[in-house]
This record gives sequence, structure tokens and C-alpha cells, in this order.
Amino acid sequence: MNRPIASDVDVIVTHRDTSTEGVVVFELRAKEGEALPDWTPGAHVDVLQPSGLVRQYSLAGQPGSDVWRLGVLREADARGGSTWMCDSLQEGQALRLAGPRTHFPFDAEGAAKLGAPVILLAAGIGITPLIPMAAEAAKAGLDYRLHYSGHEGRMAFLAELEAAHGRRLTTHVSERDGRADLDAILGSAEPGTRVYCCGPARFIDAAEAAAAKAGLEFHTERFEAEALTPPIWPGPFDVELAMSGLTVTVPPERSILDVVEENGVFVLSSCHEGTCGTCETPVLEGELDHRDSILTPQERARGDVMFICVSRAACPRIVLDL
Ligand code: FES
Repeated sequence: MNRPIASDVDVIVTHRDTSTEGVVVFELRAKEGEALPDWTPGAHVDVLQPSGLVRQYSLAGQPGSDVWRLGVLREADARGGSTWMCDSLQEGQALRLAGPRTHFPFDAEGAAKLGAPVILLAAGIGITPLIPMAAEAAKAGLDYRLHYSGHEGRMAFLAELEAAHGRRLTTHVSERDGRADLDAILGSAEPGTRVYCCGPARFIDAAEAAAAKAGLEFHTERFEAEALTPPIWPGPFDVELAMSGLTVTVPPERSILDVVEENGVFVLSSCHEGTCGTCETPVLEGELDHRDSILTPQERARGDVMFICVSRAACPRIVLDL
């Protein structure tokens, strides 16, 4: 049974910009006569590649625009799927996406209500979700700062960010300035400041540690998995699939996703390590052992969704809306 968890969106590549070394920026529009779905800052889409690979890219444009923008880093490791995007995907070509979905929401309204300052921390291509966040912060009249770290000549979107954010933007060009001093940036922030961060795992880890030291609220999106914790329920458990009318047993050495698919229930998936959010599945009943790198502690406590490529039951039986 097919149960796509996010709607498909068919788009056309209308522009391809290679002016920043190591990055390709794509502009996408809906097919004629169709509209692009709404999205909010921090959202990403799944790109469904012809090989079957599914890869996630943050939307780097502005919500409400009839153009979507993706920034793709050319990775040395082709496993990331960037080679096809950077070398084969050309203007005029059709592309199928799923989403958009948001695991990295930006609460401009909440910050405005409390008068909370906002610090946006980006490294490299991690700038993409922070572009619409910075624009939203400016629109909402927030006291915000954007710190953008990267290598000389390889910082995509820099000119437009300088024009849009002026003195609120600080660049940390590694060849010129060395690494951004995250302890100093966050240590000198006002109490109540909210921090939003995106970039490589080491950058996020350092920023998270600096935010914790400074007692600041920290929000991020990880594209690299955190270490898996030992399972809470070490034995096999049953998973009832309410929509399919099936119950399957998941042994300790296999994932729910594997067992569900083996039983003919299709779930869109990509990373298989709990970082991309593609296999998000609604939960109807049961205690959960969340082992993903996506949900916040509050979202985990709600227990209404799980990422079945890595997360498990914390009890003998759970019920999923599959
Ligand atoms: S497939 Fe990526 S979170 Fe499950």
C-alpha cells in the first residue's frame, strides 16, 4: 500500500547559478497552471532523484514567492547525491519533490511577543534555512544578528545577505578571521536570546555547547546523525499498522521501517539514520524510544510521531497510522 507522507510537487528548473565555487543554486517554479505549496522558514523539500535517491534541501527563498530556491553543496563524497544535482540537473528539466516539511521552525511571533533577541548562526551551506529566517526576523522587527562562517569565495548568497541585513550580518571568513568564536558570540548575548543554528555537525555541536554554557535556548537541524542510544526495550515488539490492518513483529536487530516494507507497506525514506525526517510516521498508541536527531525534547514527549528508520517501541506493542 502506498502512503506518501508528504505530497509530491512537480517543478521545473528555471535557473541554475554556479557563481559561487562549490555550490549550485537552483531556482524552481511550479509546472504551468499549478501553484507551489505554502511553506515557512526552516522548511525543506525532498528531492526525488532518478536513481531513487531521496535528498533533503532547505528552501532558501522567501515564503509566498512563486519561485523556490535550493542551494546544493558539491560534495566530494557522491553518496550525498550532490553529483547528480550539480552535474546533471539543468535548466528546463522537470524535478519531482516531496514536501515541504519543517523540522526546524522559526518562531518570530513568539520572539516578538517576549522581545527576545535572536542570533542566527550558519556555517557553509547551512546558511540556506537561515536566509528566510533572517528575512522574517527583519520583517517582524526583531533584534537579530546573523553570523555566517565559511571559506573565502565559497559563501553562497553573501552579496544579497549583505544588502538585506547590513550591520546585522557578521561574516567569519576562515582564511581571514579564523573560526567564529562561538563562546564569545553567545557568551555576550542578552539573557533570553534564542539561537538558531545550521551547518556541519562539528559546528552545531560547538554552538550547542556554547549556547548551553550561556544558558540560551538553542534550535538546530542536523543532517548528520547523533550516536544511537541503546534501545529501551531490548526484545522484539509488535507494531500494529492501523490503516493496513496488519500487525508485524520487529526483532531487536531490525528497524520498524525494514519490517513494515517487507510486509508490503511503502514508506518514503532516505537517510535511514534518523536525520532527514522523510520516514516520519504518525503514532496512535504506545510508548516510544526516540533515537532520531530531529525531534526536540518537547516533541518527543508528545509521542505523536516517530521516525521508523531508527526509533523503536519502548513497550511490547505500538500502533502506527500506516
Ligand atoms: S529515513 Fe531519514 S529520518 Fe528516517
